[in-house]
Amino acid sequence: MKSFSRSDNLAETEIKIENTLRPRKLSEYVGQDEVKLNLNYLIEAAKIRKEPLDHVLLHGPPGLGKTTLANIIGNEVGVNVRVTSGPALEKQGDIASIITNLKENDILFIDEIHRLKPAIEEILYSAMEDYAIDLVIGKGPAAKTMRLKLPRFTLIGATTKMSMLSSPLRDRFGAVYRLQFYSEDHITEILMRSSQLLNVRISEPAARLLARSSRQTPRIANRLLKRVRDFAMVEGNLEVNEKSVKNCMSTLGIDELGLDEGDRQILTAIIEKFRGGPVGVSSIAAATSEDEDTIEDVYEPYLLQLGMMERTSRGRIVTERGYSHLGFVIQKEVSK
Ligand SMILES: Nc1ncnc2c1ncn2[C@@H]1O[C@H](COP(=O)(O)OP(=O)(O)OP(=O)(O)O)[C@@H](O)[C@H]1O
Ligand SMILES: [Mg+2]
Repeated sequence: MKSFSRSDNLAETEIKIENTLRPRKLSEYVGQDEVKLNLNYLIEAAKIRKEPLDHVLLHGPPGLGKTTLANIIGNEVGVNVRVTSGPALEKQGDIASIITNLKENDILFIDEIHRLKPAIEEILYSAMEDYAIDLVIGKGPAAKTMRLKLPRFTLIGATTKMSMLSSPLRDRFGAVYRLQFYSEDHITEILMRSSQLLNVRISEPAARLLARSSRQTPRIANRLLKRVRDFAMVEGNLEVNEKSVKNCMSTLGIDELGLDEGDRQILTAIIEKFRGGPVGVSSIAAATSEDEDTIEDVYEPYLLQLGMMERTSRGRIVTERGYSHLGFVIQKEVSK
């Protein structure tokens, strides 16, 4: 029997809660107005033409709602969504059997699409373009190629790393949407909605305060909501108020802009060890013992968004805003 460690259990509960909180309809999906507007046209046009939806690529930092949106598209179009991910597809046969089992107009959602193996990607090219795949049957001189017709389906790809997607694959998506970080108002709205679904009483000012520490990211907002709920409960408050939010954030080491120990470590390392940069991400990783992918996918996008860090062709630099937020004084070199 498979036994679960405590962390596995926690991850499972997190997944369950995430699913409960996931909006099912476009009208429940808060923010991302431009993406929603464009999607609406895309969906309606496909319905009028009675054709499958164009292939859609969703990109942006983790937790902004790519998976949620893919499922919503399925609901809005009224078709099934088959979910898989780049790393899960090992052999050409894996993808072939998934696509051949789809029904007309169905959606295939491939998460982490930048991690597809080249051989699988190749199959996708003709599948996306011609709704057909060429399979090689047999080996050596007797091998034959067989063209297999596919149902007309829609591919939705999601990635946090757009730059790692090959251009032939990127070019085959008819619609490419970048999800943006959320405004304070939108995160507050998401928190109020989630608090109802989770039966948590929270005042509007407390939700707004919590929104500010949520890195403009719905997943983090929802996660912090559960922490402040626990905090308020232990403190004997029936409703989460501003004081519980403040206490909870300071216990978690999260500041009023949502920066945590990890962010501060990265900025401090660049300032103290590399004189504020420019410095490459591999050197930052070595100096902070954090892995490069986590720095690039999780920390960096938000620090860039806040204007505390900048990316230059020679590497990352900490901006004046970054220095002052951490309480450092910039020592400008005096030219003689
Ligand atoms: N626009 C939104 N409105 C309301 N809730 C949202 C919205 N976007 C995301 N969420 C919430 O945030 C959680 C995380 O979203 P989701 O899993 O879709 O992110 P993701 O972009 O797929 O992240 P990853 O890159 O890690 O796969 C969801 O469970 C959902 O409850
Ligand atoms: Mg996802």
